[in-house]
Amino acid sequence: MIALPKAELHVHLEGTLEPEDTVRFAARNGVQLPWPGPEELRAAYSFTGLENFLSVYFQGCRVLCTREDFRELTVAYLERAANQGVRRAEMLFGPQAFLDHDIPIDDQLGGIVDGIDEAREAWGIDGALLVSAPRHRAEADALELLEVVRPWRDRVLGVGLGGAESGNPPAKFARYFDAARAEGYRTTCHAGEEGPAACVAQALDVCRVERIDHGYAAAEDPGLVARLADERVTLTMCPLSNLRLHVTDDLTTYPLKRLMDAGVPVTVNSDDPAYFGGYVNENYAAVTDALGLAEAEVRTLARNSFSGSFAHPEELRGVFEELSGNERP
Ligand code: ADE
Ligand code: ZN
Repeated sequence: MIALPKAELHVHLEGTLEPEDTVRFAARNGVQLPWPGPEELRAAYSFTGLENFLSVYFQGCRVLCTREDFRELTVAYLERAANQGVRRAEMLFGPQAFLDHDIPIDDQLGGIVDGIDEAREAWGIDGALLVSAPRHRAEADALELLEVVRPWRDRVLGVGLGGAESGNPPAKFARYFDAARAEGYRTTCHAGEEGPAACVAQALDVCRVERIDHGYAAAEDPGLVARLADERVTLTMCPLSNLRLHVTDDLTTYPLKRLMDAGVPVTVNSDDPAYFGGYVNENYAAVTDALGLAEAEVRTLARNSFSGSFAHPEELRGVFEELSGNERP
């Protein structure tokens, strides 16, 4: 599992902020936190659900202030990921929480792309950036996000939509995704995490996104499952996140294997690893144990992670050879 080459397609950079770093950044930036140290912070990571988690997550974001903070955060995640066999990481990041606190976009994205370049040089990992809009805000804010990141267009591969799903269906952001597509961005949308299967269908029909983040609820609708398989829509599932946020209370009934058996290209990802108790390999291990996955099935998950990525197919030829066992010694 450690050595198996894989792509991570669903990770929020802000969600990779480990408690030790939260406390360290807070001290160096003069930010007051309600928790005195990393242990107390870790103890607060017992969430009642998505909205409760998001309030802790946004408090954590307050400690990230400088270009150097964003660079360090990115390098730290990419180093960990590379050590877990991740060859490609498509990282979501939400600039608006930081713009609200007057952190310039150039400091945010400048630090992140510096980190991506440094990690590529150091460990050969291929990092890519997707900016994410928070769905509890108005669509006008999401459209404004596209304006704000335009100077960084060549370093932003795609756009996503995250945040509190209840009461904020994908259709609210139809024009955001239309505008993003018109600018050539790749698209992905959180759907079917706390919301129903209908939200997954809506993200495809109305927002016409290429990928679905989570998609857990899709398993409830056999017609939708058949469609996801037919249209080869990748689901970026996050088992430990779903467990910690009570989307599911038992991974032995987690729908990943059922979806995979039905031909849906499912993948395994960490979402917010510092908050949910595991990076990508711990997520692979959790579903492998709970669902009794065979080695061939774990390889299928890894293969799906590359075929569902937004990387250029040419760049993936070598890794597919490795995964089919044809790698050269
Ligand atoms: N932002 C960070 N993690 C998220 C999650 N699990 N769902 C929605 N938005 C998020
Ligand atoms: Zn997510």
